[in-house]
Amino acid sequence: MLLWVLLLILGLLSRQAAIAKKSVVEPRPSWTPIFEGELVTLTCHGAGPFKPERAWWYKNQQLQEILPTNIIQTNQPGEYRCQTQGSTLSDPVNLVFSSDPLILQTQYSVFEGDTLVMRCRGKNTGTVKHMAYYKNERKLLDLITDFDKLLSVSQAGLNDNSKYHCARVVSSIWSTWREISKNVDIQVQELFVPPELKTTMSEPIEGTPMILSCETQLSPQRLDTKLHFSFIRDGTVITSGEKKSHVLQIPAIQTKDSGSYQCEAKAMTQNILKKSNYVKIGVKIPVSQPFFNFSAFRAQASVGDVVEFHCEVLRGSFPIQYQFYHENTILENKIAPSGGAASFNLTMTVGHSGNYFCRANNSFSYQFSKNLTLSISDPIRSQTNTAIMGITVALIIIFILTIVVLVVYFKLLRKSGRSSAPSPHRISSISNLQEPVYSNSSSQKELMPIYGNVNPVAENVVYSEVTSKEHGKEANNTKKLPEIKDSPVIYAEVKQKPQSRDSKKTNAADGRQNVAENYENAKLF
Ligand SMILES: *[C@@H]1O[C@H](CO)[C@@H](O)[C@H](O)[C@H]1NC(C)=O
Ligand SMILES: *[C@@H]1O[C@H](CO)[C@@H](O)[C@H](O)[C@H]1NC(C)=O
Ligand SMILES: *[C@@H]1O[C@H](CO)[C@@H](O)[C@H](O)[C@H]1NC(C)=O
Ligand SMILES: *[C@@H]1O[C@H](CO)[C@@H](O)[C@H](O)[C@H]1NC(C)=O
Ligand SMILES: *[C@@H]1O[C@H](CO)[C@@H](O)[C@H](O)[C@H]1NC(C)=O
Ligand SMILES: *[C@@H]1O[C@H](CO)[C@@H](O)[C@H](O)[C@H]1NC(C)=O
Repeated sequence: MLLWVLLLILGLLSRQAAIAKKSVVEPRPSWTPIFEGELVTLTCHGAGPFKPERAWWYKNQQLQEILPTNIIQTNQPGEYRCQTQGSTLSDPVNLVFSSDPLILQTQYSVFEGDTLVMRCRGKNTGTVKHMAYYKNERKLLDLITDFDKLLSVSQAGLNDNSKYHCARVVSSIWSTWREISKNVDIQVQELFVPPELKTTMSEPIEGTPMILSCETQLSPQRLDTKLHFSFIRDGTVITSGEKKSHVLQIPAIQTKDSGSYQCEAKAMTQNILKKSNYVKIGVKIPVSQPFFNFSAFRAQASVGDVVEFHCEVLRGSFPIQYQFYHENTILENKIAPSGGAASFNLTMTVGHSGNYFCRANNSFSYQFSKNLTLSISDPIRSQTNTAIMGITVALIIIFILTIVVLVVYFKLLRKSGRSSAPSPHRISSISNLQEPVYSNSSSQKELMPIYGNVNPVAENVVYSEVTSKEHGKEANNTKKLPEIKDSPVIYAEVKQKPQSRDSKKTNAADGRQNVAENYENAKLF
């Protein structure tokens, strides 16, 4: 049991080590191609703790040998791989042998930033008179002496990927001839892929955190390359110095952080710089609480008035939608594509009293305004109301007056009922009331009542009339209470209702007569 666990752990450990490191095949000479018949020494480099390492050799995907050493020699073309204890299978090394008289040799692999080296080698002996290197058929280097000189391109880049060849003029005792190598297709390998700028969101909401990451991948053969990163917004580097981390964190993004972003990855030793795509970041602003008002003076309006409602936010990304509410019912819906306000007009009806507010939202946030109360008055109804109220008040006053008068009357009646004969004091008190108004109508000979008590005690019964006579003249007392000073005769009499009506009629008739008389008098003048 314990053994099993141990084996399992060992297995896991070895697998982890395997993930960590690949074996590498190193050929010597380090040039390719080479002439047929030449020997190549291959060394298998691993990461295992055992030296010299035991190695498994593969040729064209087939296991060839298991050797107690990590070095083999071969003159056979093919694709060679190896694996040591503790490392994974290596990438292949393709051994190419050439039978050509002239070959252009180069490294097995060239990465960006490396120095690309080419060597022109001939099999034939003789005196080299002239040598030249060509790139895409165009002469790159012309040599008249120093024919061992190599063609080297420092800081190789992907634009150095081309077809190269070389040519030379050789002479012997008998002849002079020209040799041309085959074209070699040079592929400079990418050290790391161009970075890609990624963001958690392209439209972050103001105040939220945002992460920008500059993602790239180093070539598996060059995993130990040191990369540094920088972040650029609108053409300006925003990271202080060069970062070893490919991540930029903005804890709370602000409006000023909006812009066009790009990142750069740089291999420090090789001095290779690669730029990413552009990413547009627009910081979105949540709507602020809207201001809400209406064009009603003192929050009052009448039926038929047009009230303008206005809702406005000071901050918020567009477009902004505005909704006007009356008691939780939407009255109006407006979208402001740009500009932070909306308004609308409404003609008031009786039902429009109550709470009003507005709501503003954009695609990711909303806010309600404060409530405002609007009261609607109905002019017609209020007129009727005042009329009804006036009438009611008048009726109440009349009623109270009636009661007062009745009370007074009954008091008087009771007093007069107790003493059968009218008290002289009482009479004098009445007579002292007012100066009498004298009628100058000659036709009126009858005594007229001074004070007509118009409040009958009971229907169809009787009411009193107080009549005064002074200086032999008849007083016209229907309107004014007479103020009687020492009136010689004051008496009260009880008359029946119909009679009083008749007397009133006569009065009216007399008045008319008076007017007629006056008219005649005026004519005489
Ligand atoms: C509401 O207030 C804004 C700003 O204070 C003002 O411009 C606008 O005229 C007002 N609208 C109404 C309907 O009162
Ligand atoms: C505003 O009025 C509406 C409708 O009457 C009501 O539902 C809401 O609670 C009120 N809001 C505030 C803040 O008073
Ligand atoms: C509302 O009416 C006023 C004046 O009557 C006018 O100036 C305003 O433009 C109107 N508003 C809308 C939204 O129709
Ligand atoms: C406002 O919110 C509603 C949902 O509540 C949504 O349908 C609408 O699109 C939003 N308006 C804007 C301008 O984003
Ligand atoms: C009395 O009669 C005369 C003419 O008949 C008239 O002009 C005058 O106004 C009268 N006076 C009163 C107090 O009625
Ligand atoms: C009493 O005077 C009024 C005007 O004050 C008059 O109209 C009426 O006819 C007069 N009556 C008598 C009976 O004189």
